[in-house]
Amino acid sequence: MGLYTNNLRTMDDLFVHLLRDIYYAENRIVKALVDMIETASDPRLKKAFKSHLHETENHILRLQQVFRMRGVDVKGVDCPAIDGILEEADDVTSDVEGSIMLNAALIAAAQTVEHYEIARYGSLIAWAKMLGRDDCASLLQKNLEEDQAADRRLAVMAENGADRAVATA
Ligand SMILES: [Fe+2]
Ligand SMILES: [Fe+2]
Repeated sequence: MGLYTNNLRTMDDLFVHLLRDIYYAENRIVKALVDMIETASDPRLKKAFKSHLHETENHILRLQQVFRMRGVDVKGVDCPAIDGILEEADDVTSDVEGSIMLNAALIAAAQTVEHYEIARYGSLIAWAKMLGRDDCASLLQKNLEEDQAADRRLAVMAENGADRAVATA
């Protein structure tokens, strides 16, 4: 018996399960981004989080559309993975001292979140295509591309921040 009480018998069941997993995750990420905007001291990082918050709200709307296209209830399932990533991010950011380290810790946490999303959307898109649902795949692809772009922007900020940290060490 696995962690999930619903039996996952078909690829379609697995697809809907993963859709509910990422739906839960995106909703948690919205709340986390609101806190991260508040916590970040670098104005560029605040701005990046704000724009990704707006994109993330759209990701939720697109996921709701995919649920409707599939004819299943719009709902999430607990996702201990994203809970763990966000809890660890909270612990680390509340323990660091100094704004350079704080921003670096926030960027690292945000990149971990993006990588989780990218992995999930990669599987969902592959499975949607396998199930003959290119219409669902193309909506999920939009979410994937925005999460990939967010990750690339964060990677640039991580490198710039690391340079500043070395320069002031
Ligand atoms: Fe997302
Ligand atoms: Fe994201």
